[in-house]
Amino acid sequence: MNRLKMNYSFLTFLVFISQAFGDIKPQQVHISLGEDPFSMVITWVTFEYAPTPIILYGPTIATTLRYPYGHTNNFTYNNVTRYVHTGTLSNLEPNTKYYYKVGTIEGWSGLFNFTTFPAGNDFKFRVCCFGDLAYRHGNIILDLFDAARNGWFDMIIHVGDIAYDLHSDDCDGNCGDKFMTELEPIFSHIPYMVIAGNHENDHHNFSHFHNRFRMPGEVGGHHNNQYYSFNLGAAHFFGVSTEHYGYMDEYGKAPILSQYSWLTSDLQEANKNRATRPWIIGYQHRPFYCSNTECHEDDEPLIRKGDHDIPGLEPVYISNKIDLVFCGHMHSYERFYPIANLVSNGGNGYDSCKDTSSVYHNAAAPAYIVTGSAGCHTPKTSFGSPHLGSACRSDDWGYTIMSVYNHTHIHLYQWSVDQQRNVDNIWITKFIGNFTAPGPTT
Ligand SMILES: [Fe+2]
Repeated sequence: MNRLKMNYSFLTFLVFISQAFGDIKPQQVHISLGEDPFSMVITWVTFEYAPTPIILYGPTIATTLRYPYGHTNNFTYNNVTRYVHTGTLSNLEPNTKYYYKVGTIEGWSGLFNFTTFPAGNDFKFRVCCFGDLAYRHGNIILDLFDAARNGWFDMIIHVGDIAYDLHSDDCDGNCGDKFMTELEPIFSHIPYMVIAGNHENDHHNFSHFHNRFRMPGEVGGHHNNQYYSFNLGAAHFFGVSTEHYGYMDEYGKAPILSQYSWLTSDLQEANKNRATRPWIIGYQHRPFYCSNTECHEDDEPLIRKGDHDIPGLEPVYISNKIDLVFCGHMHSYERFYPIANLVSNGGNGYDSCKDTSSVYHNAAAPAYIVTGSAGCHTPKTSFGSPHLGSACRSDDWGYTIMSVYNHTHIHLYQWSVDQQRNVDNIWITKFIGNFTAPGPTT
């Protein structure tokens, strides 16, 4: 039996099965990177049990049949049960546009598409990074649609605090459902990678965050999207939970210790591959360093340096020579010079966003970007005196675009939605020899 006949028989079978189960309309379709750049994970929600959720996909038209072999799980919160379906498309062709739709014979999604990344590890890609984005007051959302339409980025990293809140029913319905539905045109087209913020704690062990999103690293039918890593081009990315620390009283020390153990071995492994994948880039929700009025000099000492038997994260970042860490939580933008243990080796104090790219050349310590200004439930967050190492600040609503050009150049800019222009531009470089003017341009 050839594949076409087999698929037709299976579809006929699905018609029979699905007729017994009422309307099952997929919603909140989104994609995320799988275990490698040629896998794509597709996730969607139904509010009725879907007996045989499937994905149709293909490079020219969505014809290839795929039964999700990731998960179909359900969770109940406030007496509402959501069924979350996940399928992984693997062994995809590089640099290829794929069309897909999901559902059952009884209820299909619209037709979506995504494009895979090129092969190898020496290609340019761009990441849109932001934190603290609400369904209500989501100030960047309209701009984000324009940017996605114009092809400004190839992947999204949302550094926590999603929808305000995923579990809240204060949005003429559930905020998480509304948010994921509103942003479906973007998130179904561009991989959406997430990490938990404090607003993801629904006091049911992050049940909405845990069930709604699939991140790399699933093993044996279980998943832990609180910390994970993946490789893309010349970069190794890792995301970690600061909320394991923030809610230690609620969930205990074990998640901190598990994450720490995983992180140390993950970064040691990434360092072995530094010659072929030189950039190591992290993201987390709460920043170590910030200079908003509510920030302290050492804003999150437990997370940063640990305490007694609680290991902190910064020593791991320093010893593994992490290049760059994105954070949110503060509802503004702030770029730091390379900084370690509260001491910065760059610049001579705050310099109002001047081009200080030379400071980021072969930097000896991680640089931090706080990008929590996407638009949330609070007014703009005011700044106090600049923290040591603070190089650029903006309280405009906006988001960060990072272009990983190649093995030697990364470009960052901060797009201000308020001003419709870049309010920060910086190069981060590593190569042999003295610093010269950055090579490629955006
Ligand atoms: Fe937060």
